[in-house]
Amino acid sequence: MTVVADAFRVVDRRAFIPDVVWVRRDDGCAVPLRRQDDPDAWEALCASGESITTQVDDGAAEKGTWSTSSSSAVHIMTTMLEALDLAAGMRVLEVGTGTGYNAALLAEIVGAENVVSVEIDPGLAEQARGSLRRSGHAEAVVTADGGSGYPAGAPYDRVVATAAATEVPYAWVAQTRPGGRLLVPWGPGVHPDNPLALLTVQDDGTAVGRFIAPAWFMPLRGQRCSARVTAEAEERWARAGRPDRSRYGISVSAGGQRVWLDSPDTPISP
Ligand SMILES: C[S@@+](CC[C@H](N)C(=O)[O-])C[C@H]1O[C@@H](n2cnc3c(N)ncnc32)[C@H](O)[C@@H]1O
Repeated sequence: MTVVADAFRVVDRRAFIPDVVWVRRDDGCAVPLRRQDDPDAWEALCASGESITTQVDDGAAEKGTWSTSSSSAVHIMTTMLEALDLAAGMRVLEVGTGTGYNAALLAEIVGAENVVSVEIDPGLAEQARGSLRRSGHAEAVVTADGGSGYPAGAPYDRVVATAAATEVPYAWVAQTRPGGRLLVPWGPGVHPDNPLALLTVQDDGTAVGRFIAPAWFMPLRGQRCSARVTAEAEERWARAGRPDRSRYGISVSAGGQRVWLDSPDTPISP
């Protein structure tokens, strides 16, 4: 059994799922599912391993359009935790605390004292703090825009975002040790899979990596983009002959980022 599987066995997802979650009606609108009204449906959702929407429209109360926080699907959380290649004692920065479930899994693997998780939404951060405390995971949850990382906790061995970026903030690179990893779900712009970018920080303070697996994450606040941008990105990918995600790579330096096809010498223009 892997350390990741061990962590999932130990941490109960239900301890992090709020009593009110959101489900989509046939018309696409999200409406609340209250645990007290339908405990069986709530339990089934928790047990399903599917993504569970926990906030819509940055905090709407009765119905909503956009999912703005969720407990990610368990299979994608597993892929990400495996890709991070974690070991006890590593320092980890998570951007996007959400429910705190992934933060608890990280804490099980590396030790709670080594995890800092940053959440931009104060209400969500407070809820996650409570869930983490009750489940015995005492790591730091910081209420802030994770786009700046969290310099006070640096240097990190791993930085993982659980919201999608189209621009890797250089702060994440600067706060990671050489040889450390960054794992970033991508937003529209490269490939319609919105894949995960896995980057390694180099001795010269740059980071280089590849897109490794499909994913779909809600965008980081501060990096949300319109449906038109998504459509244009898909057209660009189709015009390029629909390359496999594995052919794309990314380089990030203090001067900015470059996404490339096959080699850093052939940048694409996002
Ligand atoms: C998919 S959810 C995270 C799931 C979470 N890791 C879990 O286990 O429940 C994405 C979260 O990122 C947060 N977020 C979005 N933009 C952010 C930003 N700029 N800085 C920090 N958190 C952000 C959202 O509020 C949301 O809670």
